[in-house]
Amino acid sequence: MKTLYEPAAEPKAASAPTGQVLKGLYTGAYRSDKGKIKGLLLQVGEAEFTVTLPKYLRPMLVRELAPDDFVQVWAYPEGDRWRAINILPLPECEAETLRQEWSHLAAITELPQPQQKRLCIEVCSKGKCFKQGGRQIYHDLQAAVDSDPELSHVSVKATGCMKACKHGPNLRLPSGQMLHRASPAEALAKLGAKR
Ligand code: FES
Repeated sequence: MKTLYEPAAEPKAASAPTGQVLKGLYTGAYRSDKGKIKGLLLQVGEAEFTVTLPKYLRPMLVRELAPDDFVQVWAYPEGDRWRAINILPLPECEAETLRQEWSHLAAITELPQPQQKRLCIEVCSKGKCFKQGGRQIYHDLQAAVDSDPELSHVSVKATGCMKACKHGPNLRLPSGQMLHRASPAEALAKLGAKR
């Protein structure tokens, strides 16, 4: 991906007035009230940043990022959020350094259950998907979640058409990534929800 912005300096605080390179952990998509992906949530040390992405970068977020990926984001502060100009994966050596530096933090270490985010798998419940096996996937996922204490922070929700009917049955992970014709086991594995 082409870098569109030259970084100014390492991030020091969310209120810094100029452009920064935020290096941190992608913890999930940031969505509008209507559920549209607008950007990402980024854990930098003990702070969490809400970062808006330009429209053309949002599909990349859905396709390529998974929670717990380390990324670097060129961004500048705007109100209580950050506006990104570019985003790239963080080289593994730098990611490993951050992993070690932040190993005491909740987002990286195993969390006590009350602090762990709830994760919701959405299952398209509209005609085509449900007829093609979505109904069974929904019930199997629900049964798997209900019967496994390690998945107590996971929920399953039936939703409307995801506009990918040809590829159904369709599921969507909290990251926004869509899964086509995935089994419940595959969906849970992709979710990486087990502690
Ligand atoms: S019916 Fe499921 S994506 Fe349209």
